[in-house]
Amino acid sequence: MKHLITTEDLPVAWLDNFLTEVHHLKQAYKHGTQSEAWEPYRNALANKILVSLFYEPSTRTRLSFESAMTRLGGSVIGTEAAGMFSSAVKGETLEDTIRVCGGYGDILILRHKATGSARLASAVSTVPVINAGDGQGEHPTQALLDYFTIWENFKDKQNLSLTVVGDLKRGRTIHSLLHLVSKLCQTHLAKIARITLVAPADLALPKNIFETLKNSGVEVVIGDSLNEAIMMSSDIFYTTRTQAEREDSTITSTGDSYVLTDALAAALPEHAIILHPLPRNQELPTNIDTLPQAKYFTQAQNGLFVRMTLLLQMLHALSTPTPEK
Ligand code: NCD
Repeated sequence: MKHLITTEDLPVAWLDNFLTEVHHLKQAYKHGTQSEAWEPYRNALANKILVSLFYEPSTRTRLSFESAMTRLGGSVIGTEAAGMFSSAVKGETLEDTIRVCGGYGDILILRHKATGSARLASAVSTVPVINAGDGQGEHPTQALLDYFTIWENFKDKQNLSLTVVGDLKRGRTIHSLLHLVSKLCQTHLAKIARITLVAPADLALPKNIFETLKNSGVEVVIGDSLNEAIMMSSDIFYTTRTQAEREDSTITSTGDSYVLTDALAAALPEHAIILHPLPRNQELPTNIDTLPQAKYFTQAQNGLFVRMTLLLQMLHALSTPTPEK
């Protein structure tokens, strides 16, 4: 795999191996970065440079990529406000910036407000490009960390029910996750058999993703607000914020019917997990944080392990350290 632009491109065999590699790396990391278990990873990316180009705000994605590269002994250059501090201000095209930056590093991490920008960048780049979010298009590394979190929480389980809530129209994390779920549906990696989509009509899932999902064989249910019956049947409850910063904003908020109240959360099964890509707004009140089902901070840290594994693979540095027993 040269570039990572969409989860639609990911080979199933690659995913199978990837989830296991992330698990091994996470186990080694838990021993501490000074431990013997971490030894094979410590300098795996020495002499490699990651170029981090963020044209849109980011906390988790940028910092976890930068931490991942640094933890593996590599270096990071880049800008967190590329729209302001790159030559975009002087009228340089994205393609030219990418051509130039590829000459300075070994891998490019791009977040950009334009849907399709990562694909455009990969067409001209001499080094691998990872899509770290392109407008309201996709966010494949988030989907990988979401799927890993589901996979590690439900190791031996299949036929799970996933409820996705919020701005399904513009939420790129949902787009990438649902592509992944469609792709894995008929394989031995399938975890999810039923999806409930909960969104107001003007923030419904784009038609093409909806069709792909339906054609994949996953059972799709549509709801326009949350209720106890939906909660009771959710193994994974994945909520998202309204993407109010997007240009085609027609409404400003998904409103109160999408807030995860105490009463709704109480209806979740004990074994369920609550996920959110973060940042959160009113849809996920902070008092939910103390529930055993709240997994969104673990999910965010899994981003580090997923991105380390991805960098190792894409920079061909995974000399497969001996797996932990
Ligand atoms: C998401 C994004 O940027 O799409 N954030 C993230 O990377 N974890 C979700 C969001 O901004 O709502």
